[in-house]
Amino acid sequence: MDVKALISQLTLEEKAGLCSGADFWHTKAVERLGIPAAMVSDGPHGLRKQDLGADHLGVNESIEAVCFPAACATAASFDRALVTRMGEAIGDSCQHEKLAVVLGPAVNIKRSPLCGRNFEYFSEDPYLAGQMAAAFVHGVQSRNVGTSIKHFAANSQEHRRMSSSAEVDERTLREIYFPAFETAVRQEQPWTVMCSYNRINGVFASENPWLLTQVLRDEWGFEGCVVSDWGAVSDRVAGLAAGLDLEMPASGGWNDRKIVEAVRGGRLDEAVLDRAVERILNFVFRYVEHAAPKTPWDKEAQHALAAEIAGECMVLLKNEDAVLPLSRGETVAFIGEFAEKPRFQGGGSSHIRSFMTTGALEAAAGLPVLYAPGYSAAEDSATEEQIAEAVKAARQAKVAVVFAGLPDVYESEGYDRSHMRLPACQNRLIEAVAAANPNTVVVLHNGSPVEMPWIDRVKGVLEAYLGGQAVGLATIRVLYGEVDPSGRLPESFPKKLADNPSCLSYGGEGNTAVYNEGIFVGYRYYDKKEMEPLFPFGYGLSYTRFAFSDLRLSAPEIRDDETLTATVRVKNVGERAGKAVVQLYVADCESTVFRPVRELKGFEKVPLRPGEEREVSFTLDKRAFAYWNTELHDWYVEPGEFRIEIGHSSREIALSAPVTVWSATELPRHYDLDSIFLDIMADPKAAAVLQPMLESFSKVFLPEEGAAQEAITTEMSLAMLQYMPLRSLLSFAGDRLEPTALEQLVAKLNGN
Ligand code: BGC
Repeated sequence: MDVKALISQLTLEEKAGLCSGADFWHTKAVERLGIPAAMVSDGPHGLRKQDLGADHLGVNESIEAVCFPAACATAASFDRALVTRMGEAIGDSCQHEKLAVVLGPAVNIKRSPLCGRNFEYFSEDPYLAGQMAAAFVHGVQSRNVGTSIKHFAANSQEHRRMSSSAEVDERTLREIYFPAFETAVRQEQPWTVMCSYNRINGVFASENPWLLTQVLRDEWGFEGCVVSDWGAVSDRVAGLAAGLDLEMPASGGWNDRKIVEAVRGGRLDEAVLDRAVERILNFVFRYVEHAAPKTPWDKEAQHALAAEIAGECMVLLKNEDAVLPLSRGETVAFIGEFAEKPRFQGGGSSHIRSFMTTGALEAAAGLPVLYAPGYSAAEDSATEEQIAEAVKAARQAKVAVVFAGLPDVYESEGYDRSHMRLPACQNRLIEAVAAANPNTVVVLHNGSPVEMPWIDRVKGVLEAYLGGQAVGLATIRVLYGEVDPSGRLPESFPKKLADNPSCLSYGGEGNTAVYNEGIFVGYRYYDKKEMEPLFPFGYGLSYTRFAFSDLRLSAPEIRDDETLTATVRVKNVGERAGKAVVQLYVADCESTVFRPVRELKGFEKVPLRPGEEREVSFTLDKRAFAYWNTELHDWYVEPGEFRIEIGHSSREIALSAPVTVWSATELPRHYDLDSIFLDIMADPKAAAVLQPMLESFSKVFLPEEGAAQEAITTEMSLAMLQYMPLRSLLSFAGDRLEPTALEQLVAKLNGN
């Protein structure tokens, strides 16, 4: 389709009209020119296609679909190929349902356990979030259906989400809040990017030219269409100029008229409007031209896939005395309503109407399992009778498994959690069951960390997250050892909320939310503070054991325009088949800027039979070593030694090897009379100029012969000298120094 030719035939009103939705889920059609409407739909861990009543909060019914595990779970798989397969299945469903775009993946960073939408997001770690996002986009778009990576950007709280300003410094945005978007854009070109509701440093994302044009398009090369989050538009004309193409949903013609007026009044270049229309029509026709009318949607097969994926995402957090796996012959008590009716997804726009659900109790049919509901999730209560019944069942069984977690109302889109606790009634139930049966295991259904006050009194904990409609099948497979638990935590579990780095300022004051902790989000903070979390990032047990050995680097030193290959051997040294997650972290040994202790820069999931060994390789480029330099406004590797670490988790590093990385970039240096000695001496070229004069300069500050030497020693005066600006020599040297000599020195330092 020659989109440009079409645009030349559109009236100004038609063009402005195309820049907003026809209704909740469709773009506008222009029938006289054969421009069709395209339909988009929520998800992204399934389809929330609303055929009748439309809304963005998951209130009205949508078609029956398959609910896959939410992002909180899929990230724990640490498995790109698995997430791609899920994306392919969702892409197929979209083709079947004639949907041009599925609105996801959601990739915001988990800054606090309190964020109501954490269950929809991947990780506290930007590298992991980026890899998962790219894998998902790849899968969906391989089916000629678009994605809408969201919510761009810094949308890490629900509190005042449509008015709050995320106040985040440049380096933190670049290192923490942007990379998930950047990776997906650079690698996979999502058809659309959805801008967030919030402001960033005072400017709404929907009208932020730096964000939507400079960073997204000019730097990262985004070629697609920017869509607003539903109702995120404040100033439509400013938005269009900033790079926001499509406003969703419809604005009743109100904003379209403003666009027309702005063009007529000379306040908006018509070319800007044409460009937005072109980007919108590009994705509409891209879908239409590749629509596959006969794509089947085998929901039963997808249910099986959802179960397989959920099994790969479960994280075994505790397994004392090898209480798990359970054996099929022994009597087990399943306690807790979630065994029967699992909580497997969260509330809001991602809510899927599952065509079927399999809970653990149903999946355990035929096994000697006793059941007691223990509590009511909807009423958030546990009566004395319910607890007594649960205790009785626990006493009769070899092992008691409590299915606990957060009821729907505890975490949802649209508002944040107010604390990090499980319901009090569930904590009471767990304590009572653990007192009755020493072999108690807790299975958790939650989208974000919870405190575990009973952790020392239970033998096992399995984090099932929000595992999708087939979660029960996966839970039984993992509990009974048919599937090895191979999930690893995509986020740290702090012991208590107050340990979390954002706790002093999360949510903000009024509409100002200052991201005070900067780059020290999640494990980057706990590591630096040497604080013991309840469970660290990357952590997860298996029923077998893995050993890492023989870490080799391709070179002892590289320049940052070269790549480094790290190779390591991983062996299953236990008795069962399982999947190892080899995690690679990079540590900067010495740095002049604040840096985390280590940062995840690679991971691989490796299936291994007992005794089997494999080699895994990682290729690292400049970005693995760089930090965002705010002088250069670019990535920069400070030359020096780094450590490549191979770990089972962020806190269990098994191997490490040093590498020296040199920078191909020279930092711009400019010296003047305000430059201090310390900075000059840190620059080898400038230091060579200054060094010969240093001794005589230091004398300027030394006490005169015979003066009270104990008041200031030579060592002290040299220590003081480092923070002095060059100009202070004039103040202290009196007529011992010619001002012109200093000017000549500055010129030399600048290489003149
Ligand atoms: C959410 C988006 C969603 C949109 C459409 C908004 O409230 O923030 O994630 O895609 O609604 O339902």
